[in-house]
Amino acid sequence: MGAAAAGHLPVMRDRVLELLGPALELPGAVLVDATLGRAGHAGALLSAHPGLRLIGIDTDATAIEESRQALTAYAGRVTLVQAVYDDLPQVLAGAGHAVAQAILFDLGVSSPQLDDESRGFAYSKDAPLDMRMNQAGQLTAAEVVNTYPADRLARVLRDYGEERFARRIADAVVRERTQAPLTSTSRLAEIVRDSIPAPARRTGGNPAKRTFQALRIEVNGELDVLHRALPAALDVVAVGGRIVVLAYHSLEDRAVKRALAARTADTTPPGLPVSLEQARPQFRLLTRGAERPAPAEVAANPRATSARLRAAERIKAAA
Ligand SMILES: C[S@@+](CC[C@H](N)C(=O)[O-])C[C@H]1O[C@@H](n2cnc3c(N)ncnc32)[C@H](O)[C@@H]1O
Repeated sequence: MGAAAAGHLPVMRDRVLELLGPALELPGAVLVDATLGRAGHAGALLSAHPGLRLIGIDTDATAIEESRQALTAYAGRVTLVQAVYDDLPQVLAGAGHAVAQAILFDLGVSSPQLDDESRGFAYSKDAPLDMRMNQAGQLTAAEVVNTYPADRLARVLRDYGEERFARRIADAVVRERTQAPLTSTSRLAEIVRDSIPAPARRTGGNPAKRTFQALRIEVNGELDVLHRALPAALDVVAVGGRIVVLAYHSLEDRAVKRALAARTADTTPPGLPVSLEQARPQFRLLTRGAERPAPAEVAANPRATSARLRAAERIKAAA
């Protein structure tokens, strides 16, 4: 379990194990970890289920490499693939499986990505404005802040960061870059701080947090990919199989909530006396609303603070 050994604690690990456990009892069960990271969750699940086969996906080549080393004890049961997670059904088919008994998404950035200054994800560390999860990707945060017109930049900050002062920040960025291109995370964090009225700066943590989240989502196309990936993943959950998703901000969580609601609703037209067989839901929710980590976990691992967990089980084959 590399992640744990390296001091990176998998978020809500015991709850993830508990929720996925019943689906992983069968011999030959397959788990797709769509966001492998440093294999913290995956290692714990492999250890708990000796018959389990893992297909691990991550867009970050370093994550795949380090997980391969962390999981050497399970090498015969593990297939790791560098891919974007909306390719999950293709990756699963490539490994010889039509369906999976369990799927896990632990969204967002990993602790090692945040801790690696060269990646430019953290506003608290001075680094080049990069933020690509896949280091072979084309778009960087520097390109976004130095080339987007103010309107488009403001829209990114508003839509993906839910930033109230999006327009002021975008205007300040555009003013600044006419002097010299913006290249560093600390300079950007300063511009954001200086653009926000003093009273607003005193609430809600670091004022750069929302801007950095928005840029990361834009650079990696995160929400578009997530909106495609969730239905695709639900399609390949086996009957009796389970999916768990950990989201870290309200935009992600809203996407998860909607994707699960679409499959857990009975779509019988209103007014009919009985529900139609083909309209009965394919999934049942395993969580009531979004579950949050316990205070003790948040105290031990501040990065768990914003986690919201939702889970569902397939109860019926697709029509
Ligand atoms: C929060 S970490 C997962 C940590 C992991 N559960 C563990 O215990 O070590 C999220 C991971 O998802 C990856 N990721 C983010 N967006 C992705 C995408 N669209 N496709 C594939 N991987 C993605 C990131 O590179 C990162 O390694």
